Amino acid sequence: MTETALTVHQTARPHGFPTPDHFAFVESPLPEPAPGTALVENLYWSVDPYHREMMDGDFALNAPLEGRTLGRVIASRDPALREGEIVFHRQGWRTHTVVTPDEARTVTRFDGVPLSAHLSILGGTGLTAYVGLTRIAELREGQDLFVSAAAGGVGTATGRLARLMGAGRLVGSAGTAAKAAYLTEHVGYDEVFDYHAGPTAELLAKAAPEGIDLYMDNVGGEHLEAAISSLREYGRIVRIGTIAQYNSTGTPYALRNLPDIVEKSLRMEGFLVRDHYAVREELYEFVVPHLQSGRVGLDETVVEGFGSIVDAFLGMLRGENLGKIIVRAAGAAG
Ligand SMILES: NC(=O)c1ccc[n+]([C@@H]2O[C@H](COP(=O)([O-])OP(=O)(O)OC[C@H]3O[C@@H](n4cnc5c(N)ncnc54)[C@H](OP(=O)(O)O)[C@@H]3O)[C@@H](O)[C@H]2O)c1
Repeated sequence: MTETALTVHQTARPHGFPTPDHFAFVESPLPEPAPGTALVENLYWSVDPYHREMMDGDFALNAPLEGRTLGRVIASRDPALREGEIVFHRQGWRTHTVVTPDEARTVTRFDGVPLSAHLSILGGTGLTAYVGLTRIAELREGQDLFVSAAAGGVGTATGRLARLMGAGRLVGSAGTAAKAAYLTEHVGYDEVFDYHAGPTAELLAKAAPEGIDLYMDNVGGEHLEAAISSLREYGRIVRIGTIAQYNSTGTPYALRNLPDIVEKSLRMEGFLVRDHYAVREELYEFVVPHLQSGRVGLDETVVEGFGSIVDAFLGMLRGENLGKIIVRAAGAAG
């Protein structure tokens, strides 16, 4: 067992894009579990766009950050947390942590499904896509969808799940032609455009000339405006995130076609996945058999080593990931 623990702290508030200088790796002695707690050695970390939003004020400076994490209990002083067990908890961005049973959930293992899936399609990312499609969009068979940031964690999960649910035409947008090709070849999208290739409204109108029924919005701004124009009467917009804005220092994009929401009787609704954890078991039932049969593959970019966690996070903000970005401890099983 290593004798020291490493923890990442945020050390300054960014203006615009963060850099490695906004973070520090802090070394400390391995924490000791008190009675009623257990020591967890972390194996997989999720870094997420919401961390960027938290960097503006919610994350305390010079203190451990939080994030979705999977780890192994290596010393326990509570019978509810058995040594050797794999748990999910939110005390991420550190190699080791001490948790109470209330702070950690035993991970349900499924034969043939890699552990990392609990941070991608079976984790908050997949649950966001599933809740967005089933509870907010109320997707019906044959409906045509547009998904922005389609090559990311939520975007790939949305494509995979929508295909299984019998969606009609699936159109996506992504940051590179290589991502677009991956989405049509492997994920089930019918057409994907690189949003750098021109005005989004024109690219979407070309990709979906008959219009769309639903828009799963991970991006906001110009993408949202384009979708409003392409939506058919009674269409729905599911507001999932606003990644176009998280690093922007300018005035937020002003939508010019809001009257269309009235003219076409559109409905727009946002949600937070944390209000829908009760749906997790339903997601497992729906998707695990398809993971086990190989009909659904994992879309993950796995970065090796805790020392890469800051670079992985910054790379994700720049679009370097394909599928869910996950950091894996050196030597953790694949
Ligand atoms: N509501 C909820 O509870 C909930 C839960 C999870 C996530 N979310 C939101 O869902 C969205 C996706 O999250 P994720 O975890 O799946 O991240 P992700 O999509 O895996 O990673 C972010 C992606 O955003 C794209 N991007 C970056 N800047 C952009 C810009 N200016 N315009 C368009 N695309 C840009 C990049 O891909 P490209 O190469 O395509 O640019 C990047 O790969 C985020 O907005 C996040 O906040 C919401």
